Amino acid sequence: MPAMLIAGNWKMHKTAAETIEFGTALRRAVEPLEGVDVVVCPPYTSLDEAVRVLAGSGIEVFAQNAHWEKEGAFTGEISAPMLAELGVVGSLVAHSERRQLFAETDESSARRIAGVLDAGLRVIACVGETEQEREAGETEAVLRRQVEAIRGAVEDDDVHRLTIAYEPVWAIGTGRTATPEQAEEAHALIRSLFDVPLLYGGSVKEDNAAELLSQPDVDGALVGGASLEVESFAAICEAAAAAAA
Ligand code: PGA
Repeated sequence: MPAMLIAGNWKMHKTAAETIEFGTALRRAVEPLEGVDVVVCPPYTSLDEAVRVLAGSGIEVFAQNAHWEKEGAFTGEISAPMLAELGVVGSLVAHSERRQLFAETDESSARRIAGVLDAGLRVIACVGETEQEREAGETEAVLRRQVEAIRGAVEDDDVHRLTIAYEPVWAIGTGRTATPEQAEEAHALIRSLFDVPLLYGGSVKEDNAAELLSQPDVDGALVGGASLEVESFAAICEAAAAAAA
């Protein structure tokens, strides 16, 4: 069985000083685990410290977003080559908070994905329906549209550097996780459209991780709130190691 991937999305949390403290404890907790690849996604200002404190631990550092151009007049943006120079190995793209709060579209997400892959980095691209879309019976149509946009941005040679995270928007930060059956149904659909590793995200916690990760088309998890404490994040990584065994 291939390794599971557990990625912690810190969102707008943890200063550089907090990152050093957290990283030191995290590497102690997860270094001994086998069968699980661990990623953290700190905010831009903590990336450098994260790369340094986690060097040699096997824990990899991703950004939370990146622009499609290498450089230019794009105030407030950061490019993939800038991230690569720090030792960052990938980026999230199209997280639902980017889509909902910062007007990210399928089109802009596709450009960001292409830019990050072009710089030689990896991408975790996020998809997922809102509660309204689920209730209107539009989940499948939304996922098809989002996944097709991602697929159109990826050259065949780069597919091995892409992971998709299914994150139903109604489950993010709400404590309402998808049932393992709902997650599996969405993952199976996504896999039928684009066969890449698939993470589930949305209120993943230590007490629901094992069941979600045991689904056949769930290859890991994208964890928000529960990734901010070493204890809960390490427990999820342990559940992934057990699921991979
Ligand atoms: P959550 O966030 O685990 O806090 O629900 C997941 C995410 O937004 O990636």
